[in-house]
Amino acid sequence: MHFETVSVPLGERAYRVCIGARILPQLGPLCRELGGAFGRRCAVVTDTNVEPLYAAAVLASLEAAGFEPTLLTVPAGETSKALHVAGGLCDRMIAAGLDRKAWVVALGGGVVGDLAGFVAAIYYRGIPFVQVPTTVIAQVDSAVGGKTGVNATHGKNLIGAFHQPRLVLADVATLGSLPAREFNEGVAEIIKHAAIRDRSLLDALAAPNLQHDPAALTEVIRRNVEIKAAIVGEDEHETKGLRALLNFGHTVGHAVENAAGYGRYLHGEAVALGLVAACRLSVQKAGLAPEEAQRILDALARFRLPMRLPADLSTEDLVAALLKDKKFAQGEVRFVLCPRLGEAFVSKEVTLEEIREAIEALR
Ligand code: NAD
Ligand code: GLY
Repeated sequence: MHFETVSVPLGERAYRVCIGARILPQLGPLCRELGGAFGRRCAVVTDTNVEPLYAAAVLASLEAAGFEPTLLTVPAGETSKALHVAGGLCDRMIAAGLDRKAWVVALGGGVVGDLAGFVAAIYYRGIPFVQVPTTVIAQVDSAVGGKTGVNATHGKNLIGAFHQPRLVLADVATLGSLPAREFNEGVAEIIKHAAIRDRSLLDALAAPNLQHDPAALTEVIRRNVEIKAAIVGEDEHETKGLRALLNFGHTVGHAVENAAGYGRYLHGEAVALGLVAACRLSVQKAGLAPEEAQRILDALARFRLPMRLPADLSTEDLVAALLKDKKFAQGEVRFVLCPRLGEAFVSKEVTLEEIREAIEALR
């Protein structure tokens, strides 16, 4: 079974991201190759949508390789990214007799990956984990880079830890079962990568029927993982200003998610609205050519991503949500701008008033 490999360059903690179609059966052998740190017992954490689709293949592969997996399923959806759910998983792992030699497999989208990764970060003060991402967002973004965590009552991702996986196995065939809306929201993160790092990715997205084209998907996912891996390799803990570029479109995006209430917009849909606002500000403040901004907007439109705010979401609600964002906590506005397709930088020159105008322009 052929797959492509991208390495996340983190020295002794470097790990492989394996990308290909129908490669779930490779999971057991690949974990076996990782050797001593991987005891016999592991927890496979998944959600109620993914379990009936892919858990059997994952469990069979692990068992055939001599592991003893325990399946732990949480309700699908963002509400599972919560401290009490993480605590419940730890309790279930203790009850199942998993000790410090155990390890975790996160099988699912970004919710399961963030949650199970966080559990792996805190269980016995940290045990190894493997990401098996099954959404576009998870394959191109959340499964790579070691950001794990859960949401707090007052905001998303406020409780968490950096904990890198030991392996990521991205089976692009699993993306075939995503509802079109979930597939398209993930493409918003790909469009973000194109804007900040690789403009030619916009052409790769033009493949007809991308969701069900394993060769085109493998190529697109690999190129996105290369972008994410390179950035994480250089700025693992987001201290050098490079990883922050991944927040292009996310400042307004997070505000939309927050103001609308989680569940109304999918993460990538909110990011799409944020990308529209960020493009406008990039034209105004960084000299992005309007026709280049238009290429991003055209790509968003092709994947039917939202580009206009509904009337019931007021600009003031969004600005209030923006001010709750941890990036604005010290009153300093840091906004990612794109001066040319494929390049980005963090600017301190964008004022709250300009962001407010860009939000207003989303109507
Ligand atoms: P998700 O995990 O909720 O998955 C979306 C939906 O698709 C869910 O209902 C899920 O059950 C279902 N699903 C998953 N795989 C499927 C498949 N193959 N077939 C059919 N249905 C499937 O959400 P997501 O969009 O993958 O991720 C969003 C989350 O990721 C957010 O919580 C966000 O904060 C987080 N995130 C984290 C990072 C990071 O760096 N850690 C980066 C980006 C996003
Ligand atoms: N998704 C943003 C990051 O990983 O830094």
